[in-house]
Amino acid sequence: MTFLFSYSLRNSYSIKVKFSNFAEYEGSSLSTFPFYIFLPPQLMLRRPRRNRKSPVIRALAEENTLSVNDLIFPLFLTAGEKKKVEIGSMPGIYRFSLDQMLEEIHSCMELGIKTFDVFPHIPDDLKDSYAKESYNPDGLYLKAIRTIKEQLPEACIMTDVAMDPYSSDGHDGLVKNGEILNDETLEILGKMALAQAQAGADILGPSDMMDGRVGYLRELLDEKGFTNVSIMSYTAKYASAFYVPFRDALDSAPKFGDKKTYQMNPANSREALIEAELDYQEGADFLMVKPALAYLDIIKLLNQNFDIPIAAYNVSGEYAMIKASAQRGWVDGERAMLECLMSMKRAGAKIILTYFAKEFALLSRK
Ligand code: PBG
Repeated sequence: MTFLFSYSLRNSYSIKVKFSNFAEYEGSSLSTFPFYIFLPPQLMLRRPRRNRKSPVIRALAEENTLSVNDLIFPLFLTAGEKKKVEIGSMPGIYRFSLDQMLEEIHSCMELGIKTFDVFPHIPDDLKDSYAKESYNPDGLYLKAIRTIKEQLPEACIMTDVAMDPYSSDGHDGLVKNGEILNDETLEILGKMALAQAQAGADILGPSDMMDGRVGYLRELLDEKGFTNVSIMSYTAKYASAFYVPFRDALDSAPKFGDKKTYQMNPANSREALIEAELDYQEGADFLMVKPALAYLDIIKLLNQNFDIPIAAYNVSGEYAMIKASAQRGWVDGERAMLECLMSMKRAGAKIILTYFAKEFALLSRK
């Protein structure tokens, strides 16, 4: 029995074993093995660690980057003056009265954040089943949008189009006999959207998940001369457990039932393609996936199938998870934040709506 060693082209060794006759082969333990035995690579031409050897090389090899240019900062608006009230389940995030919100927007703009998604906290006595307060031109929200655009015209303002903050039922649509009505809701959303566009909103964010709302809003806006107002559609918005801190912030939790007849089933991804196709056809400028972390595959799916920018909403519960564990010292909050935001970029989100926006901007200043 002789051993013949040889190198293969693909940088592994092979050994050939030669027997003088068949009986010798059969008698040896090698008879149970294939004739050629491949050993693990010994000669490594390709060493991926070389691209990780120093901060400079790592930066050169970096495939994705985070930038304040891609962030949208959600802000909570409340009535009154000089109010800045922290939300219990969202440390570092506040409900601002308008004067304080103007200051906040101003300081964020100095840090490079340019887009803000404003959500209103409406007192219970102004809520009704038709969400009429949502298009009251003298109401808290529309007045605030006008003032922000007057005083800080450079700020890009995104608004929320859905009934829940103004609805006595706490649902995103009109409720009749325990059912969420689709087409009747569109009319209300239309009035709300138009009022927001008139107040100066740059981007409208329909977050309600009614069928046909993007097309309905787009046609209405165009008809009224608002062809330049953008629509960032909540395209794949899932019925998620991660919205609870947001509903605390706005006191907007549903008064009965859940949102499963309009928000998507977390088990589904093909359905996201149907929603995306409709929103695209109906004229959406951006497609949003929400939440982000548990739905990175959906972000990737939409990014691979549609050529308009994809946004990810890094929602309140995702923020709360990191904050809560960081407060206990269980994770390094800063690193966890960066890693999560990067995962959304890597999945294919061009834009990230995140409560971490200011913290990230402050960090990247350092
Ligand atoms: C409702 C709306 C929700 C969020 C944004 N718009 C909550 C919901 O659908 O109940 C959640 C955002 C977050 O959790 O950060 N139209």
